[in-house]
Amino acid sequence: MPASDDATLTDAVLHSFASAPDPRARELLAKLVTHLHAFVRDARLTLDEWRAAIDFVTRTGQTCSASRQEVILLSDVLGVSMLVDAITHRDRGGATDTTVLGPFHVGEHRVAPNGSDLAPGAPGERLFVDAIVSEPAGPPIVGAEIDVWHADGDGLYDSQRPGYTLDAPALRARFITGPDGRFSFRTIVPCSYPVPTDGPVGELLRAGGRHAMRPAHIHFLLRAPGFEPCVTHLFVAGDDHLASDAVFGVKPSLVVALEPRDEPAFPDGSPAAARWQLLTYRFAMKRAA
Ligand code: BEZ
Ligand code: FE
Repeated sequence: MPASDDATLTDAVLHSFASAPDPRARELLAKLVTHLHAFVRDARLTLDEWRAAIDFVTRTGQTCSASRQEVILLSDVLGVSMLVDAITHRDRGGATDTTVLGPFHVGEHRVAPNGSDLAPGAPGERLFVDAIVSEPAGPPIVGAEIDVWHADGDGLYDSQRPGYTLDAPALRARFITGPDGRFSFRTIVPCSYPVPTDGPVGELLRAGGRHAMRPAHIHFLLRAPGFEPCVTHLFVAGDDHLASDAVFGVKPSLVVALEPRDEPAFPDGSPAAARWQLLTYRFAMKRAA
């Protein structure tokens, strides 16, 4: 008879996976069982708590849809996404720091010419982003593809709006670096916003006495042949939530000060109707191993 009391159960379950054909799967399953059982034992989990946990996990999965990923959000607010990121990108060698992808990079981004306005007509202070993509030691990377996306003045991504389709993107596009490694675009200054709180992850945050806010940021996904993709954000310096990001995604090197400007035109010559802000940044990509 297999053992099933508290003292021997863990060994029995470990033994049951001992012949997993894939060595990495074997290792992961053994560690998962060891840590999960230790948690249950250490916390003295009751049957009611176990039932509540099963219900929570079930509802987290059921909340997912084509445009909503509650399981990734759970990983994010528990700090697991950033822990995997930190372990994976320990040695950047001068390349730009990485952070969470988040759930709002949906589908292919449309290529837009440099200088394009991502937010035509949208209310908010205008922002010009002027960036260079290079290797850590300096040479520019020509033809790099950069997906950009951020939330609107209400703190919502286009994909969160009812009726959203891939055919009508807003506040998102793909830029290609020119011969000098540069890309640029116009948009509005992003604002801080809450991660979705109307699902199980919201319940978890409330139960934990936590807020749901993310500091204002713009997402970037940089790709170029021969280089590791770089998933990152730039955060706006001075935001109230930099020290308590709901998903632990802030790294000091990614916090940038915007420069207020009074010139009547943006750097690409297009007219500026009011005071605007300038964001300049140099992204460095790491060569693929
Ligand atoms: C975001 O920045 O888009 C995001 C990241 C993680 C969880 C929720 C939102
Ligand atoms: Fe975001």
